[in-house]
Formats: sequence, structure tokens, C-alpha cells
Amino acid sequence: MAEVPQQARSRAASLREQLEHHNYRYYVLDDPEISDAEYDRLMDELQGLESDYPALKTPSSPTQRVGAAPLSEFSESRHETPMQSLANAFESGDVEDFDRRLRESLGVDSVEYVGEPKLDGTSINLHYVDGALVEAATRGDGEVGEDITANARTIGSIPLQLRTDQPPARLEVRGEVVIRHRDFERLNQTRLERGERLFANPRNAAAGSLRQLDSRITASRPLTLFAFGIGHCSEAMPKTHYAVLQQLREWGFLINDRVERLTGAAGCLDYHERLVEDREQLDYEIDGAVYKVNDRSVWDRLGSTARAPRWALAHKLPAREATTLLEDIIPSVGRTGVITPVAALSPVEVGGVTVSRATLHNLDEVQRKDVRVGDTVMIRRAGDVIPEVVSVVASQRPADARPWSMPERCPVCGSDVVRLDDEAAHRCMGGLFCPAQRVGAIMHFVSRRAMDIDGLGEKLVEQLVERERVATVVDLYRLTRSDLLGLDRMGEKSSDNLLKAIAASRQTTLARFLYALGISQVGEVTAKNLAGHFAGLEPLMAADEEALVEVPDIGPVVAESITRFFAQSHNREVIDGLIEAGVHWPDPQSQTAPGADDLPLAGKTFVLTGSLEAFTRDEAKARIEQLGGKVTSSVSGKTDYVVAGADPGSKRDKAEALGVTLLDEAAFGDLIEQ
Ligand code: IVH
Repeated sequence: MAEVPQQARSRAASLREQLEHHNYRYYVLDDPEISDAEYDRLMDELQGLESDYPALKTPSSPTQRVGAAPLSEFSESRHETPMQSLANAFESGDVEDFDRRLRESLGVDSVEYVGEPKLDGTSINLHYVDGALVEAATRGDGEVGEDITANARTIGSIPLQLRTDQPPARLEVRGEVVIRHRDFERLNQTRLERGERLFANPRNAAAGSLRQLDSRITASRPLTLFAFGIGHCSEAMPKTHYAVLQQLREWGFLINDRVERLTGAAGCLDYHERLVEDREQLDYEIDGAVYKVNDRSVWDRLGSTARAPRWALAHKLPAREATTLLEDIIPSVGRTGVITPVAALSPVEVGGVTVSRATLHNLDEVQRKDVRVGDTVMIRRAGDVIPEVVSVVASQRPADARPWSMPERCPVCGSDVVRLDDEAAHRCMGGLFCPAQRVGAIMHFVSRRAMDIDGLGEKLVEQLVERERVATVVDLYRLTRSDLLGLDRMGEKSSDNLLKAIAASRQTTLARFLYALGISQVGEVTAKNLAGHFAGLEPLMAADEEALVEVPDIGPVVAESITRFFAQSHNREVIDGLIEAGVHWPDPQSQTAPGADDLPLAGKTFVLTGSLEAFTRDEAKARIEQLGGKVTSSVSGKTDYVVAGADPGSKRDKAEALGVTLLDEAAFGDLIEQ
């Protein structure tokens, strides 16, 4: 093995120290000092040194956090002291009994506790020898777990080396590995995109991730460790549990910030109440509060029952998962036209709330979970999110359970239901007409970059729709002063201003009009391209998919969306209604002034030089002007483009000298194809 130069050795040590420091800032303090890119740069440098001088590699090196080659199986790991369970309390009376028993056994008037959230993840035991992580194990049966050291090393919040010069010779640290809600959502989103099975909940995802034979998979999962105590320690540790947790925090562990000292049963019950209240705001799942006698010196004296110590108690929170009967699956049309399968459930109480509806997200999820009408399903409520169907209780499936399929027609308006190629969702194509989409469609129609009707906010649109003054966007042009005056916060002045804004919007451009229709997949740029290409609404409405894919940036998915939209007779009726109501735009052939700003070449100055094959000079000039551009004869600093055909003259050289963009015929062709 190559001799390691002293310089490389000390640089590696310094990099390791820096990386662990930044790791600690990021994972434990949640207060990074450097960017991810800078961190990666330090990591790359250390990896480089370690590959040049393999003798520099140590098991505690931050480079080990990326995972290693897969194992064929886990070996066993015996905990130095058993990992016990906790006795459970469900009611306040249980907590009062617990406190009374302790006061009596200890012969004191009041007991101090440490309150901690009971994290809903998977527990882990970490062995440190002389400050270095040497082994990590799952809880297993409490005596013997599985050796998952390689996996534990990939978890950023697990110190590979304790942050102290005087570590105990041997120490066991215990804690709960969890996945935070924000990380869990991202993880499942990625899995959805890759067509992989979704994790039912963060606990299963954490437990599964920790038990991967390939630690590179564990490394890709966003696991977090909260330390909640110690097992064996060769040296004396602080006398109170609270101080032990502070010690662990100093040594580099993440300690939950809801850890508190509490007095007596009343303190515990108050803590529990606050956790119940704040539960929705926490970024991780909890299933209870844990109370631990703070004075560790009495722990031995209090002893244990068969499975749990007498000095601690888990006070459960109401469960947020429950099973119930799925009576039906109802397609629900959202305000953007997306159709979500919603489970209609036999009402069941979950976490203190009665739930009778839960989302199934989309058809793929219904099929992946194989959910059928008549099944018993597990549902979950977490955070502020809508309750969801997590899984089917397969053993309880009746013989007549019925698979579900997406309807072909919108249940609200009868328009076609289409799943565009690259989308997970099915959509109703009747965007302009569908009552479920009214508010959404109108808000989009009036928005600044669409018809630009100022003064029509969402609250107002909701009122107009509720009072049946407006059903489709056509009705906006029929509104009268008296329709508006009766609405909340609408005085005479604001009503008149709104009516003026509506009237002014009648004069628009084809591109804005197309964008305002809210055709799925048709944004502003596509709308401009369509307007430029077809130069009129009629030819666009008549175009088939083949003709549509001729337009720049339009592929088969967008083309399908457009033809489906215009194929809905209801949508056509609304478009006819708008035109009858006086919505108009200049004929693009003769278009100059109004709306010219919206044209693709608006404000651009061109100079033509040399001869073009496909156009005469005049044709090229006309096309540029049609698209809002200007053609001048001499090149200056104000020129945006010089189009150079065959045998260009000195104008080309001048353009080069001035740094003006030069277009050959092909590039010019692309530009005016917009
Ligand atoms: S203390 C002897 N503290 O709950 C004390 N456990 O039912 C043993 N847990 O296996 C554990 N949060 O997985 C403790 N703050 C916390 C906890 C906690 C979650 C889990 C842990 C343990 C189980 C016991």
C-alpha cells in the first residue's frame, strides 16, 4: 500500500472534521453554514484522497455515509442491556395512577418527569467505542436485533464520531428513526413518478429503509434519528435523564425539541394536551407522549415489570388509522377538471374526527392498491391532509367485491373524460362549461395574461356563481349594474369599474383568447404559437391532430388535448356565445397596432441581406411584420437580427462587428414559424 504523505493525512483529517461539523449543523441544528454544493466539493476532495491512499479510509469517515456493497444477510447483534418496551396509558386516570404509585414507592410528595413525544418510527441501538460508531442494531426481540451498521452510517443525524475529546469507552445510544412528513411526501412522489409501489406511512417506510441489505438504498432514503436515551455506559453519566439528553445533544445527536421537564400528573396531562393540540403542526408522526422519571438514580430501585420499566409510561394519542367498509367509489371533479376517485366509507372515527370520505388519488392508485367496492380498507388521517385509503384488508374481501373503473363521461357535465399521455390524472374536457370547474375556469379567463379583467376576484366570482348570475364566461358579458350592486363589498364605483373592464376585454388578441379558454396543456406560449400558425379561430377549431403537430412545440399530447377540447359541443357553444357577446380580435393578416405587443416578434428590428431561397424579400418582410417585427435597411446597434441569405453584402460584416445576432435562412425559417 502506498505510503501516505503527512500532508494528505492531515488534509484528510481536516476534511473529515469539516464535513462532520457541517453534517451536524445541517441535520442536528437545522442551521447549515455552507451550501450543498460546497459540502459536495469537500466530500469529493476527501473521496479523492481516500481513493489515492486507501489507508486513509476509516469506518467513521463521512465518505462511508453513501452506502456500501450489499450484504447477503444481516448478522445478529446482542444489546448490552435489553431494549425494553413502555407500559401504555390511554386515559388520564392511568397517568394519575402511575404518578400515585411512584410517589408511594419513592415516598415523595411530587415526582419530576421528562415529557417526550412518542415518535412513531422504528427504534435503533447504537454502540460507540472510544467515541466511534462501531455497531448499530434494530430492536429485534429486545435482547437481540439485526446488525444494520452499514445502513446506520448513511443516516446524516447519526454521528459517526461523538463530538467530544473525552468520550466514554463504551456507550449505547438509543433512539427512534423516523421520516419527516415533508421528506415522506417527496419520497412517495418520486416513487409515484417511477411507477413504484407507494409506502403506506412514514413508519413503514422508515422500518423498511433501515432493513435494506443494500445500504446504498438506505442512503437514498431521508431518515432522521431522534435520540431518546442510553443503554449501557462504561462511565458515569449525568444524574438526571434530562441532563443525559443534553449531553447527547452536545455529543452530536438530534434531541427532539419538544422534550420538557414536567411536575406531577398534572404536568404530564398538560403536556399531553399540548401535544394533541400541536400534533397537526409537527413534521413527524407521533403516537403518544412518554413520561420518564427524571432522576435516574431511582430507576434501578423502581425496576421493571415483565417487559417495561416502572419509571416510564407511554400515554397514547388517539390513533389516526382505522379500518372501515368502502361502500362506493365516487369520481369527484375538481375545479381544474381533474377527476379524483373518492372512497365513500361507512363513517368511522379517526383521531377524534368522523370520516366518511377518503381520497384514492387517481386510477393508478386504485389499481395499485387493488381497491374494490365492498372491501374493508385501512384509512389514515395525518397532518392537515385529506384522509386517504392506505390499503385493503385482503382477508376481509367479500366474494362480490367490485373493481372500479374511471367513467368515460364527466359525472357532472357529461363531457369526455380523457387521460392525457403523460399525466397520472384523468380530466373532464368540458372546461368552459362544466359546473364543477366554473369558478376555476372563470378565474383563469379573467386573469391578467388572459382576458385581463381587473377587479373580478375569487370571492366575487364565487358569489356570482352561487347566486346563479354566472354559469359560464359568456354570462360575464351580460352582467348588469344591478347584478353587481347586490354583492358583498360592491359599491357603485367598483361595479361601474368592473363593467368597464369587462367591456374593454371584448377587444383582445387571438392568442389571449385561446389562452383564456383554459385548454389543458395550452399555456401562453402555445396559445401564441397556435394563433400565429392558424391566424384565425375557425381554422384552428377545424384542425386535426396531424395539422396541430405542425405547430412549433406542439406534440401529440397537446394536440389531443386541443382536439378533445374543441370536440365538446358545450365548449363550442360557449365560444360561439363569447363571439356573439362581442369578443373580437384583429384579423392577424392585417394586424398592426392593437395587441401587437403580444406578437412573437414585437419590438424586434430586422435587416435583410443576401438572397433567400424560400422567400422573396417582400415576402420575408411581410411575414416579419405580420409577427409584429420591423424591417429596416441599415444595420445599427438597434438592430436585433440580420438575416443573411446567399451572397450577403457588407451588412453581414457590420452585424458581426456590432455583435448583432445573425440568422441564416434555416434559423430565420424557425423563427417565423412561431
Ligand atoms: S423510551 C425503556 N422514548 O416506543 C424505555 N421510546 O414502546 C424504552 N419510542 O421501542 C423506550 N419515542 O421505539 C422511548 N421518546 C421515546 C420514544 C420511544 C418512541 C418507541 C421506541 C420503543 C417503543 C416502546
